[in-house]
Amino acid sequence: MFKRTHTCGELRKSNIEIDVNLNGWVNTVRLHGQVVFIDLRDRYGKTQLVFNTDTYIGLFEQIKHLSIEDVISIRGKVQSRVAEAVNPDLPTGEIEVLVDQMIILNEAAPLPFVITDRESALEDLRLKYRYLELRTEELQEYLAIRHRTYQTVRDHLTSNNFIEIETPVLMKSTPEGARDYLVPSRIHKGKFYALPQSPQTFKQLLMIAGFDRYFQIVKCFRDEDLRSDRQPEFTQIDIEMSFVDEADIRVTCEALTRSIFKQVIDVDVPETFPIITYAEAMDNYGSDRPDLRFKLQLQDCKPFTDRSDFKAFKSAETVKGIVLPNAEGYSRKVIDGLTEQVKKYGAKGLAWMKMVDGALSGGISKFFNSDLQQELIAELGIENNGILFLIGDEKKVVLPALGALRNDLAKRESLIDDNIFKPVWVTDFPMFDWDSNAQRHVAMHHPFTAPHPDDMELLESNPQAARSRGYDLVINGHEIAGGSIRIHDTDVQKKIFNLLNISAEEAQAKFGFLLEALTYGAPPHGGIAYGFDRLIMILAKTHQIRDVIAFPKTTSAMSLMDGTPNIVSEEQLRELGIKLVEK
Ligand code: AMO
Repeated sequence: MFKRTHTCGELRKSNIEIDVNLNGWVNTVRLHGQVVFIDLRDRYGKTQLVFNTDTYIGLFEQIKHLSIEDVISIRGKVQSRVAEAVNPDLPTGEIEVLVDQMIILNEAAPLPFVITDRESALEDLRLKYRYLELRTEELQEYLAIRHRTYQTVRDHLTSNNFIEIETPVLMKSTPEGARDYLVPSRIHKGKFYALPQSPQTFKQLLMIAGFDRYFQIVKCFRDEDLRSDRQPEFTQIDIEMSFVDEADIRVTCEALTRSIFKQVIDVDVPETFPIITYAEAMDNYGSDRPDLRFKLQLQDCKPFTDRSDFKAFKSAETVKGIVLPNAEGYSRKVIDGLTEQVKKYGAKGLAWMKMVDGALSGGISKFFNSDLQQELIAELGIENNGILFLIGDEKKVVLPALGALRNDLAKRESLIDDNIFKPVWVTDFPMFDWDSNAQRHVAMHHPFTAPHPDDMELLESNPQAARSRGYDLVINGHEIAGGSIRIHDTDVQKKIFNLLNISAEEAQAKFGFLLEALTYGAPPHGGIAYGFDRLIMILAKTHQIRDVIAFPKTTSAMSLMDGTPNIVSEEQLRELGIKLVEK
């Protein structure tokens, strides 16, 4: 091997006439009569190599053995490309290297898919050969963005007095709402560690320990249903601060987010982010993670449908609609497709009316007399050729169904621009969700979240209506971070466990250590955790979380490359005291 003097992305016109050694992968090979061109690639870029039979003895003999993705080492001289061959799209596009010696370091076997064209293979095949897919420019760039983000986060938080502290990976289960991944203990047979769903309890203990500004870039594990922005193991930027309120956390996160966007992708996000309450987000966008890049807000239609002859909506608790300015392209077939989508959210159907020549027509328009139509048109701002979609049902069905329709319509209408970034804080979350299967309240964020001071009474009288001191940071329709001001008083914490149907004994067994710690001088504290992978997705402008993780899992939580999860030997099970039961 010739010891490399330069990378494949480095040489420029200023290097002409110097002798260089390059190592890398054969990206392409082109034969032009007596001349052979090879694009040599490494993670820094591509450099054009030129082989000439005049200067390279035995060229064709050696080239015969070369194929795409072989690893080679060359020695040669940098020269300028002829004018017609200059490639302005490539940083090395003005030069080439005239090769006089080449060593083939490793021949590549026939490839399972074309490396230069990621889309040429199905994802399962690419995941099986992930190390090959990682050679693509796209994934190399995504991982570079990820790297720059780690560095920016560490620099920014360190210069703001935060201290990075690691917390255990083998720990006791924390209740973040998903199932735990469990690790059996060999020494204590029948007992289990849980992998952290987050370091929640530890970061609170660190506040009690006096580390008033903590952060950690940390792996978290959740055994839950996977989606395009969810992985079973993912990374958080975990943050906790003492002596703070919501505004302090917001200011800290706005500065961190601004610095990440600036340093990593040179984008300026606003100084402060808008704040909307959970109730406003649901009412106006049908989602607690609204995408503010486009409008299409949900509008109240109940006052109109109640006065119409359309009976199906009269008994509905809520009737809301979305107006699209241009109904072109919304044929019966398209509307049927959208109807199927909203049915997935429990809606019974999707009503609609189009505006043609100043009046409503089609769909359910015949149930509205012309005065009512004119009122509706004026109030909702429907324009000629526009279309109004409506859903009437219980509020808990209407809002998410229309929220999903809103996103579908934005996609169809190409209203989503990945170069725009719209952060927003969502606040005033309900304290509890009702789990109808278990018939009990569950914490909307987690059980350590402080209740809203104005709603202390409601905790007793109407827990469903009580708000918490939780908040989310949403960017472009993704929940990028979530956190809360915590309970720092043992009695309040016990009361919340009680409301969550966690008995005093269970609370003691699971969280006795935290309840006790809160009695030894716990400072008021609060924090947040960013979904690091989701943040990278936004920065990288991709819609698939797997794109930004070097070795991700499939939606069925498998690693196709190494066949994880896998069976283990009888011996290993015996040591752990585990006996498998037949499925
Ligand atoms: P939360 O559960 O909201 O809060 O998680 C914080 C953020 O982590 C990201 N996230 C995920 N990303 C990828 N795959 C997943 N399966 C996944 N689950 C969550 C989201 C989310 O906003 N301990 C609290 C934080 C706190 O209260 O300070 C917590 O973990 O972007």
